[in-house]
Amino acid sequence: MTTTTQIIREQFLEFFQSRDHMIIPGASLVPSNDPTLLLINSGMAPIKPYFTAEAVPISPRLCNVQKCIRTNDIEDVGDRSHLTFFEMLGSWSIGDYFKDVAVELAGDLLMGKLNIPQSKLYATVYKGNDTIGLAYDEESHRAWERLGFKSNQIVPLGDEDNLWGPAGDTGPCGPCTEVFIDLGDKTGIGSYEETGIFNTRRYIEIWNAGVFMQLNKNADGSYAPLPFTSVDTGAGLERLTMAINGNENVYQEEPYTLLLTQMPSVFSQHECRVVADHVRAASHLISDGVSPGRNGREYITRRLIRRMETIAACHRTKIPYPELLNVVQAKDGRNHEEFKKSDALIREVVAAEVAVFSRTLSSGLKAFDKVTRKLNGSAELPSQHAFNIVTAHGFPLEALEQIATTRGLRIDRPGVELLMDRHKALSRGAPKPK
Ligand code: SER
Repeated sequence: MTTTTQIIREQFLEFFQSRDHMIIPGASLVPSNDPTLLLINSGMAPIKPYFTAEAVPISPRLCNVQKCIRTNDIEDVGDRSHLTFFEMLGSWSIGDYFKDVAVELAGDLLMGKLNIPQSKLYATVYKGNDTIGLAYDEESHRAWERLGFKSNQIVPLGDEDNLWGPAGDTGPCGPCTEVFIDLGDKTGIGSYEETGIFNTRRYIEIWNAGVFMQLNKNADGSYAPLPFTSVDTGAGLERLTMAINGNENVYQEEPYTLLLTQMPSVFSQHECRVVADHVRAASHLISDGVSPGRNGREYITRRLIRRMETIAACHRTKIPYPELLNVVQAKDGRNHEEFKKSDALIREVVAAEVAVFSRTLSSGLKAFDKVTRKLNGSAELPSQHAFNIVTAHGFPLEALEQIATTRGLRIDRPGVELLMDRHKALSRGAPKPK
């Protein structure tokens, strides 16, 4: 039987509540009093002061569902598991239990409550790093063994994978232990047992069962011990649901399934997915007060809307925003009161940005078509032409690249950027960059 994100969200909160964790509300996507972070990117980000002892939580055991935005993966959106906006299920021990209990809880949740067969699960543990004074994480390893994990289901990984955080440039962080699910031979990739390679196309991360918060990263890159140790867990709700349903990508879960049915039929599967992701992300940003603009987090909202509009323009069609927003509202308005309340505002702001960008888009497209008619079958748009379109029409290079790709043309992006740098330097009166 298939499950839904709504059911998993409820089961998750129920589970941690039954283990003495207090449910706290999720925060806005806009960080408050945190200059290290543009947008909330994890469940722990809004509660950082608890780990550093700058604030005291209402209970030492907490859990919630937190809206998150991650834009560093924006180019990967549309693949199997990356989303710009997602909801993160999180639980915390603030100076309370540590590794043993965290792993035990992860086992009870995943195998007990959510009924995922243990044979499909793999746990990664931190390999250690002498330079920061951390040894191999024996304690987590033994805790997974106690849950019945065989040695070839426990995978040691280094800093890049298993030293988590901080959420911004500085702040609390630590080694972690993560749970992956095996999507099996249908991925076409050999198993870890056969190949010794832990390939993340076959094994998908479903639960960061514990960041063991014990370090604070300073601005100079050094680490200092935190006043006490804590546990921070997190799972992307959409991805966890996909894994439990045995699906292969997050777009097989709601609200994406429904969003995909509303897309113009000329869109490719990838374009449908990108628009489904971006419309949800942009609407949550607007709901949290981040209207499209030129800088910082406002530029992210603008970029998301402009990326959608460029896709539509490539096909000379329109995005059915009212219908798409109905779907997002039906899903997220239920769990986020603030989102429900901003429905009219979201629609207004999206329409205004679409109107502003449409002028740039149509003049840029005309210029693009004119230039490409003269290309005589060449597969590359010359950098000088691309530069001209970008500067003369205020056309974003990213949008130009999107259009070129749809029409089977390449753009030498570094070449165009070099011309743009020269142009900027000249207009500032500075010497030409080499
Ligand atoms: N902060 C960790 C993560 O984002 C666990 O929640 O993966």
